[in-house]
Amino acid sequence: MQKVLTRIPIHVLSQDIAERIAAGEVIERPVSVVKELVENALDAGSHEIRVDIRGGGLRLVRVTDDGYGIPEDELERACARHTTSKITALEDLGRLHTLGFRGEALASIAAVSELTLVSRPIESENLVEESAAALITMRGGEVKQRGQRARLHGTTVTVRDLFYNVPARLKFMRGARTETGHILQLMRRYAVGFPAIRFNLTIEETVALQTGGTGDLAATLAELYQLPLAEMLHPVSATAEHYTLHGYVGNRALAQSSRQHIMLFINGRWVHNRPLQDALESGYRGLLPKGKHPLLVFYLELPPGDLDVNIHPAKTEVKLLHESEIVTALTQAVRSVLERSPALPSSPSFPGPELVYQRRLPGPRRRGLHVAESALLRSFSRRSSSPRRPMAACIS
Ligand SMILES: Nc1ncnc2c1ncn2[C@@H]1O[C@H](COP(=O)(O)OP(=O)(O)OP(=O)(O)O)[C@@H](O)[C@H]1O
Ligand SMILES: [Mg+2]
Repeated sequence: MQKVLTRIPIHVLSQDIAERIAAGEVIERPVSVVKELVENALDAGSHEIRVDIRGGGLRLVRVTDDGYGIPEDELERACARHTTSKITALEDLGRLHTLGFRGEALASIAAVSELTLVSRPIESENLVEESAAALITMRGGEVKQRGQRARLHGTTVTVRDLFYNVPARLKFMRGARTETGHILQLMRRYAVGFPAIRFNLTIEETVALQTGGTGDLAATLAELYQLPLAEMLHPVSATAEHYTLHGYVGNRALAQSSRQHIMLFINGRWVHNRPLQDALESGYRGLLPKGKHPLLVFYLELPPGDLDVNIHPAKTEVKLLHESEIVTALTQAVRSVLERSPALPSSPSFPGPELVYQRRLPGPRRRGLHVAESALLRSFSRRSSSPRRPMAACIS
């Protein structure tokens, strides 16, 4: 290809273009919208969070919460860039107790979709005079409508026509089924990360995931996987100078063919950190057949100052001050539990040849523990009007 050498003078991009480019870093695909809205709902102290999806999230994402709400005079500001109620000074990053802090999620979503924010602050319910929730609709970053609606305290954010004004991004979107699969996986993570919150996900008006919010992680996992998991999960906890950790280590019968069931939360945030995930997996070294990965959930609590979450706009990548110490601790924690697990032979040949394990303890597929999502997701793309069992119940 021949390069065009005519140079255009350096100029400032229009705000509209700059906004859409910036939005691309935070909102990569529909699941990013769900992530940001659910995190806002969690930061607002919600007990119940409902998510509705249509068209893989490109047609509609709606997140409804019962959190503390947003006052009417702050609605528009909430949708502007660099506006937040979560930090005021740079030092606050070192004592962060919220999932959000960048003040750009709603602005990014509003720049590339039609976003309607309806909110009623919790305080308004104590007022003698009846007050309604306030509403604002933005399209492509511009205010299109304001109004009032009846609702109890909390917030509902509805996002329609995602990427309608970013054709380049739309072109790269996979089918609704793929996007829905990502959303389901994300919601499963939140349900595990926050067992005290009631989550409800509907896809094309069919319940796909539901949790009771009892606060009991083993019960939540059983709800999500619809299996008597309790006897296959071994609790773990440890405390040291720089961390405390607790969680559950799944025994080998729960091994899956993907890594998505290895869930690590640091200070309540699901994190994607390869060295830490590898550390957890290496606790199983020699115990799982090739290509199989464990099901395990770890919650790590660190002093907020020992964690840097401000390294990527999606806030799932983190840097740890004492990473190598924590890597060792994670592997040891898994290992120590597995060595005591009744699913392991007590013979000195531990861990023993793979085939012996296979015969004694059939693999997940034969035991009916394989998490089969594809058939379910196919059924969503067909869109049936008949009420269905919750998707989480369908594990082959
Ligand atoms: N569901 C909600 N309930 C209550 N307040 C909300 C909700 N969603 C957004 N807000 C308010 O709007 C502000 C802006 O939200 P936004 O997600 O854009 O930024 P943030 O959460 O502060 O930071 P980040 O960009 O990292 O998510 C929040 O700081 C919060 O005050
Ligand atoms: Mg946010």
